[in-house]
This record gives sequence, C-alpha cells and structure tokens, in this order.
Amino acid sequence: MSVLFEAYEFSGIKMRNRFVRSATVNNLTNEENRFTPEHRKLYTDLARGGLGLIIAGVHRPKREWFLGHVYQQPCLDMPTMEEEMGALVDEVHRLGAAFVSQISPPFKIRGRQVSASATDVSVVPEPLEQEDIAEIKTAYRNAGRVLRSAGCDGVELHCCHNDVLSRMISPFFNQRKDQYGGSVENRARLVLELVQELKEGAGDDFPVMIKMNASDFREGGMTVDDAAEIAAILATGGICAIEPSCGGAGASYTPSGPIEKDEWHEGYLIEYAARIKKAVDVPVMVVGGIRDLKMMEEVVDTGKGDLISMCRPFIREPDLINRWLSGDTSPSRCESCDGCLKETMRGRKVRCVQVTRVDGTRKEN
Ligand SMILES: Cc1cc2nc3c(=O)[nH]c(=O)nc-3n(C[C@H](O)[C@H](O)[C@H](O)COP(=O)(O)O)c2cc1C
Ligand code: SF4
Repeated sequence: MSVLFEAYEFSGIKMRNRFVRSATVNNLTNEENRFTPEHRKLYTDLARGGLGLIIAGVHRPKREWFLGHVYQQPCLDMPTMEEEMGALVDEVHRLGAAFVSQISPPFKIRGRQVSASATDVSVVPEPLEQEDIAEIKTAYRNAGRVLRSAGCDGVELHCCHNDVLSRMISPFFNQRKDQYGGSVENRARLVLELVQELKEGAGDDFPVMIKMNASDFREGGMTVDDAAEIAAILATGGICAIEPSCGGAGASYTPSGPIEKDEWHEGYLIEYAARIKKAVDVPVMVVGGIRDLKMMEEVVDTGKGDLISMCRPFIREPDLINRWLSGDTSPSRCESCDGCLKETMRGRKVRCVQVTRVDGTRKEN
C-alpha cells in the first residue's frame, strides 16, 4: 500500500494516514457564533470519510474581532465553548481522525481596521498598537486554554491570505520601526510571542502549527527564500508543522492558485513547500490544487513534503480517502471552479455548487 495510507505521528498527534483536511470557512454557526448540529455533521462526515487530520475552522479567539465580517465563525470566548467543542472533538476522535483548530487574528480590533503598518492597496488600515498586541496575546492565551480543555490535538495559526499576521511577516506590509519590524527575526516576533501565549494557556506540550504564505507573490513582498528563513525561525521557536499557502492584497496568487489561468496547474505550491521543507526539520503539509494520488505520492517519495493537505476536494467528496482505499483511485472530482468559495464569500453555507443545491439537496450527476 502507498505510504500515504500508512500511519504518521508528529508532536504527539497520531494520524491514521497522511491526509489532512485544510481549514475551510463553512458559515455554519448560529447567530451567537457557536457550533451547531451542521458542524457536527460536517466534521463527523469528514472523519467517517477516512481523513487522518481535520483542521477545523477558521475559529476566532474573540467575538469582538468579528466586526462586520461576512464569514460566520465559532468564537472561542463564548461561555461554555470548551464543553460544546469538546463533544464535537470526542465524536471525531471516536471516528478515528485527529482534530486541530485553526485560529485567526483580528482584521478589526477596538473598532479599527488594523494591519502591520498603514500600508495597503485599497483601504488604509491603522498599525497595530501595543494595546492591540496585548489584547491579541490575552485572547490567544485564552484560546489555548479552551482548545486544550476541549480535547483538540493542537492549534494552527492562520498567518496567510492577507490577515494581520501574514502582514507582520511581510516586508511589503510591515514597515514598522519597532521590535516587530525590519529584520526577519523582528517580523517573526509577534508570531513567536503568540506561540508562547497559546502554550501558556494550553500547556507547553500543546502542538502549535502554522499556515503561512510561502511568498507574497508581489513586487517588494516576501519571497520564498524570506519565507523559508522565517519558517526556520518559527520551527526553532516552537512551531511543530508548517502548511505553506499563498494569497493576499495585490498578489498574483489567491489561495486557490495563480490568478492568470495559463499559469494555473495542479500542485501549484509543491515547489514552494519543497523550498521551505529544506529549511526546517518539522513536517511540511503541502496544499494547493493537489488532486491526483500519483502526484501526492511523488511529493512524499521525493521528500518535498510530509503530509498532503486539501480543501476543495473534501467539499466535493467528504469520503474521498475511503473511496481511494476501496480501490477507486481516480483523481478527486473537484474541478477547482471555486463555486464553493464564492458561496462562502456571499455569507452562504459552504457547498460544492457542482453537486449540491442551495437547499442542501444533491443534484443528479
Ligand atoms: C470555501 C473555502 C474556504 C476556505 N477557508 C479557509 C480558511 O478558513 N482558512 C484557511 O487557511 N484557508 C481557507 N481556504 C483555503 C484552503 O484551505 C486551501 O488552502 C486552498 O483552497 C487550496 O487548497 P485546495 O486546492 O485543496 O482547495 C478556503 C478555501 C475555500 C475554497
Ligand atoms: S464548487 Fe467547484 S471548487 Fe468547490 S468543491 Fe465543487 S467542484 Fe470543487
């Protein structure tokens, strides 16, 4: 059997195979930003479908940061969140999958849109102030406590796709003159401080991973060599796995791949992940348009990555891994059309528009 289907363990996280469900906005929360029975169905379907690790979310450490955002996300500071999430995590564990929560920093804090510096493309944000940073640290520490007591196997920091952490590590967006700006060490500083806060809340042994941009894909931005240097600093500072991603304001890539259709190809981040893998000694989760088992095997066999992470294929086929295990090894049926993404960007519940109607019923095909 392929190495992809063999058990894998890192930092105490036991996976039955090397397949990861990459974090996916689902818009399934209720008006109190809590988990609902629809989350239970989503995650138990994914676990039943054979995945090794589910990265759930994205989740917000603090509800107040959620100002005017179209996405509806569970907020970890809601009372009794650990019990609510704990019940979900228990079920996923019983079905054989590991469960990690992805958490996202604020776009707005104390009522203002913030960034690393007052640099942007369309909206000019305000730079993070010391008071903002203190608030973020407290919220991450609390998130660590909640996720640990809910039984999560770890946490993944969202540091990509234009969020404030991805802007902190970027030489284009981060023009700061304080201890958080300038050198790669300074640009990585806030992320490392948040790793420590999470571990303060959750315990020193709690696995903290990161989804970080592998490049800014824009002039003056972070190159893949910069990203590799930052990844090495983070891995030394307590990050236990890295998922290189892409996308942000003014970039030539979105998280779904190159904007120019001619440049799009399956596995569009594999070579970037391979560059980062050379710089670190922690597992690298390769994500980005990977659809074919042969390509996945090659990634692992050639040492370009350790784990295979996918998002859209599991929206289309939550039971994809079991399909492959049953002997039907044809590629994922996802057409990478981004219909699912557009639905969530409209504030609607996530669905594969090719096979599911708005009311949740299956189309004939
Ligand atoms: C509907 C949708 C929601 C997404 N939500 C998130 C998210 O919450 N956090 C995140 O890091 N990436 C998110 N992404 C990006 C994916 O995790 C993934 O990096 C990207 O889609 C490329 O992988 P794929 O080709 O396997 O889909 C989302 C993508 C889609 C299509
Ligand atoms: S809507 Fe398109 S991109 Fe999304 S899962 Fe379906 S086929 Fe894939």
